[in-house]
Amino acid sequence: MNMIEKIFENNKNWVAEKLSVDPDYFTNLSKGQHPEFLYIGCSDSRVTAEEMMGLHPGEVFIHRNIANMVNSVDLSAAAVINYAVVHLKVNHIIVCGHYHCGGVKAAMKPADLGILNPWLRNIRDVYRLHKEELNKIEDEDARYNRLIELNVQEQCINLIKTAAVQQAWKERGIRVHGWVFDVHSGRIIDLKIDFRKILESIMEIYKLD
Ligand code: CO
Repeated sequence: MNMIEKIFENNKNWVAEKLSVDPDYFTNLSKGQHPEFLYIGCSDSRVTAEEMMGLHPGEVFIHRNIANMVNSVDLSAAAVINYAVVHLKVNHIIVCGHYHCGGVKAAMKPADLGILNPWLRNIRDVYRLHKEELNKIEDEDARYNRLIELNVQEQCINLIKTAAVQQAWKERGIRVHGWVFDVHSGRIIDLKIDFRKILESIMEIYKLD
């Protein structure tokens, strides 16, 4: 059996397992989705979404890209955010980065990486914004970890800059969470993003609602 055949075999077993617990499982799943969470994470194969959170199909709307970025000119991310916030009415948005992130590592090195340049530039901009703090950290691994955390924080701020999220905050108190997945321990670390404080600090020019 090759690797692809194995996947179809796994799928068959998974269906059988689900149906053995609940014969209506897929009938119910096909009725629609009402997820509480929007998860924006890295594409890294080691960082799962549902599995590490203990969530199941139907519970989390997901967007993944290199280094969990929220970029205002990224139509794909913008569409996901808008659909999740305005139509599905999620109450929590999670931006989850992770230590050992290759995208962040690449952004720390000045090198021409072709099509990745414009993408990584957003992370390089995070470095520039926090250069003073980062350059004080002598240990390279510690500096790398800190950039990963600051990148998550900046992507949370990018979310809070959007009209849809500001509107949902006013209407129903939507929450934005910044997390880092520690690949080494499997633990999720909460960076404790303060929505109100961020909004107050940026509202002078970013308040859109
Ligand atoms: Co990554």
